[in-house]
Amino acid sequence: MTKNRISIENIASRDASDPLKHLREEFHIPEGLVYLDGNSLGPAPISVFSEIEKVTHQEWATDLIGSWNKAGWFELPVKVGAVIGEIIGAGPIEVVACDTTSINIYKAIHAALSLRPNRHVIVSEGGSFPTDLYMLEGVASTNPLTTIRLEGRDGDTIDELIDEDTAVVLVNHVDYRSGKVRDIGALAELAHEKGAIIVVDLCHSAGIMPVELNRNNIDLAVGCSYKYLNGGPGSPAFLFCANRHLAAVKQPLSGWWGHNAPFAFDQGYRADPGIKKFLCGTQPILSFRAMQAGMELTRNVEIDDIREKSMALTSLFIELVSEFGEAHNVGIASPLDANERGSQVSLTHEDGYEIVQAMIELGVVGDFRTPNIMRFGFAPLYLSYRNVYDAATKLKETLETGLWREERFRQTSMVT
Ligand SMILES: Cc1ncc(COP(=O)(O)O)c(C=O)c1O
Repeated sequence: MTKNRISIENIASRDASDPLKHLREEFHIPEGLVYLDGNSLGPAPISVFSEIEKVTHQEWATDLIGSWNKAGWFELPVKVGAVIGEIIGAGPIEVVACDTTSINIYKAIHAALSLRPNRHVIVSEGGSFPTDLYMLEGVASTNPLTTIRLEGRDGDTIDELIDEDTAVVLVNHVDYRSGKVRDIGALAELAHEKGAIIVVDLCHSAGIMPVELNRNNIDLAVGCSYKYLNGGPGSPAFLFCANRHLAAVKQPLSGWWGHNAPFAFDQGYRADPGIKKFLCGTQPILSFRAMQAGMELTRNVEIDDIREKSMALTSLFIELVSEFGEAHNVGIASPLDANERGSQVSLTHEDGYEIVQAMIELGVVGDFRTPNIMRFGFAPLYLSYRNVYDAATKLKETLETGLWREERFRQTSMVT
């Protein structure tokens, strides 16, 4: 194998001066593994183990139903929402943690439509994460007047699709395939100029880069906590609604947790006047407690420091891959300018699925998205520059030896 141009000494000195290096030991990462899939599922923070023990043995098994009050279970959606709010540049009463991103998209889009009752057009991205589009179809099916315009299908750019008929614009902050960052501040300005509401999906930006919802004048936003917020598999998602809309906004899933007085057991629904109106029913408390513990790690670090290291890690990977990628038909699908890139690097190759599988066997975990995208996520809280170097080296080895051509890497699993 040819040698990398960047020396191992150079990598070691980057690690030695990394201000976030102490955080790695806060995570349980299997020995020898380079985990580059935190953009899909973050690894387990060690603090979660004792929290799960406490919530199961003490709060659930021993204190039983009293824990709804004593352990503050009932308040968790708002309490955890406030922490997420700190991370994404929102106020403490503007975020609630609950349900899934998909369900929160349904609520947020209906809520946005409720603020623009005389408009019926929803503008979004053809290349969006599919669930966003599926949920839009679901919303549209509730009103025959609603139409959906998609970037890439109905026009080349999202800007040209927004006009005075537009009620809502739904976009992803960071594209799940390419990792490209959208300028949500500029889009919010344009949407507002035309009188539309903007809703942003933050799944690939929350916890990994400054989002600045209020500074960017965003109206509503949703996101998940199991990626860069390290909340655990299936951990609750979140929903943001700007304070200025809270009194007027309506959402259709009018369950008792969103009622103004849930324990009055009234016959009719009266929505909570604040962010709690976005709640619906009983929340997964065990999952909440795991997520709460995990998120503290992000909360205690400056988001700018996370972003700075994230850009350095992805840039290093691109630099290393550029030395050998082209010779093996590997393309780079992510923006080359770090400012335009989230925390993943997406590479293209016709046989990307097999290459990712071969790399997993060599101890480097990334993932694959159709038709040809190999995604590698770089999370600064637990990755070192050496991890990046080793990942690039294993990729090179996989390509140079042709390991990926072996039959066993062709078998597809249900989850890719
Ligand atoms: C951009 C984006 N939106 C939404 C989702 C789906 O979220 P959920 O399964 O929590 O509904 C994902 C999941 O990966 C995603 O990447």
